[in-house]
Amino acid sequence: MVYVTRKCHFSASHRLYNPAWDNDRNEAIFDKCNNPRGHGHNYVLEVTVVGQPDPETGYVIDLKRLRDIIEEEIIEKVDHKHLNYDVDFLEGIIPTAENVAVMFWQILENKLPNGKLHALKLFESENNFVEYFGDPVKIKRFAVSHETAELL
Ligand code: NI
Repeated sequence: MVYVTRKCHFSASHRLYNPAWDNDRNEAIFDKCNNPRGHGHNYVLEVTVVGQPDPETGYVIDLKRLRDIIEEEIIEKVDHKHLNYDVDFLEGIIPTAENVAVMFWQILENKLPNGKLHALKLFESENNFVEYFGDPVKIKRFAVSHETAELL
């Protein structure tokens, strides 16, 4: 098996906030990440696909094709957006790097023409990143108040 990786970038804002908690608890747990109007990151996303190289092309997956899929399915939907309010598939989810990586996985795993999704690595900063390999995880989706979105 061979592992091929496409790296891409997007910029987005988010706010870490649990709507089931009061403001004090949110502030205590999420600290600066709880800033009411959000804060931004220059995210780096690495998508790794595993498979056998095709005998005719030598490719596990054509990286241009992989780039286009990531661009269309993920980047166009999150780049320059507020992850709490602007992205349908993240609605009601606390947009930590962990949760976002899992949601990205769910979108990408069935879109690949060749190979199998092996890993997603999502960097929020140079020093902080998460990795996800597709094991089952439960993500809580909160009911969304669109009034809150309008107030912000
Ligand atoms: Ni953050």
